[in-house]
Amino acid sequence: MVKLAQDYVCQSCGAASSKWQGKCPSCGAWNSLSQEGSALTAPGSVGLKAKRRAKAATIESLADGGPDVQRIASGIGELDRAVGDGFARGSAVLVSGEPGIGKSTLLLQAAAAIAAQGHSALYFSGEEATDQIRLRASRLGLSKVPLGLVAETCVERILATIEQGPAPDFVVIDSIQTLWTEAIESAPGTVSQVRAGMQSLIALAKARGPVIVVVGHVTKDGQIAGPKVIEHMVDAVLTFDGDNAHNLRLLRATKNRFGPANEIGVFDMHGDGLREVSNPSQLFLSQGDGEVAGSAVFAGIEGTRPLLVEIQALLAPSPYAAPRRSVVGWDQNRLAMILAVLEARCGVKIGAQDVYLNVAGGLRISEPAADMAVAAALLSAFSGIALPKDTVYFGEVGLSGALRPVQQMTVRLKEAQKLGFRSAFLPAAGEILSNGFAVKLTRLSQLKDLATLFA
Ligand code: TYD
Ligand code: MG
Repeated sequence: MVKLAQDYVCQSCGAASSKWQGKCPSCGAWNSLSQEGSALTAPGSVGLKAKRRAKAATIESLADGGPDVQRIASGIGELDRAVGDGFARGSAVLVSGEPGIGKSTLLLQAAAAIAAQGHSALYFSGEEATDQIRLRASRLGLSKVPLGLVAETCVERILATIEQGPAPDFVVIDSIQTLWTEAIESAPGTVSQVRAGMQSLIALAKARGPVIVVVGHVTKDGQIAGPKVIEHMVDAVLTFDGDNAHNLRLLRATKNRFGPANEIGVFDMHGDGLREVSNPSQLFLSQGDGEVAGSAVFAGIEGTRPLLVEIQALLAPSPYAAPRRSVVGWDQNRLAMILAVLEARCGVKIGAQDVYLNVAGGLRISEPAADMAVAAALLSAFSGIALPKDTVYFGEVGLSGALRPVQQMTVRLKEAQKLGFRSAFLPAAGEILSNGFAVKLTRLSQLKDLATLFA
């Protein structure tokens, strides 16, 4: 066996290095490299003898067709939606998020809901004693549920527990960073431990068919391995984040082999646990009555769901040569581009201002479709003219100042109509599938045309 001389492993991204460095050359994290008794072997180092010994694998035909994916739905609509109509049997799901965001709460509620339907569910905790979990469960009103609790961190013992009887339907492991396997010498929470533990759990899920949901803490320092190092191994990655000020929590599928990615589930954290928010649009719109300059409503799409979000802009004359650009919930570079297009193509002299842009409710938007709403908010803030409260905006802005059509324009308009909006600004190009809208459509081909409305 050829052992690589790479002994230092970044606990954040898993990159290996031959010497210790203060900053990981691969992901840029500081102080994240630590020495591991790694089990790394060079690829291609398998000896000829081993090759001869190996048995050939079976080749199956694509046309063979297996049974359809069987799913276990928790009945918690927002969670089922995020994983794609329920958890696929035999799949391994990673739920990652910062400590304290509510991962254990969410999974305890999910496991209890699944157990209450008559499925067998097990909750392994390496962080809390079973008494603590019971206490939490009673606070969540779940004490009568037939859910199995185990306080255990050794992978071999967890596997033995799962394999001892009939296979369970749903297993929660809280958290991957507390696990340790006897096969590897390094400390719990290191990259090699986390990877080896995950590998065994995935093999078990594939062989025996339970859904295995694993919690992974996102950590800022490099002391324990981050969930990034196992994302490629699991079937689905759900990130759980939120805005503490609003008690709002978003569960987003960033990877899903059994359903659509980028689907989101929205929750509200209360004293009695997480509650579903099934009509999130209302949450992301500001509650204020008066019309304020600098605010525009964006008709967005998150996953497959339309979502109306308020975008707020504030401008102030800058005392500096390089004005300040502060963005919350959107892309800084995208804002710089919109400002440049407004300046160069629309003749709006906005460049010397400090710009503050905020997406309401703690949501992060990544769609270019928000360009037009951002531009509208900026123009409104710049001119001091408030936009009508019953209007939504969407459309991508090109460098030429042209407005490009975006996906699912009809769905966006329908959501706007449902929530009582009466007018929409959208790109001139692109088909709208139904014309029975009560929403008044203003279709523009250039951002200039929007800017002239404020002149
Ligand atoms: P937890 O699920 O333990 O977070 P994680 O597992 O991601 O580390 O949630 C901890 C936080 O949630 C804690 O600060 C208290 C809060 N919380 C509530 O507000 N209501 C509740 O019913 C529960 C159980 C927790
Ligand atoms: Mg926890």
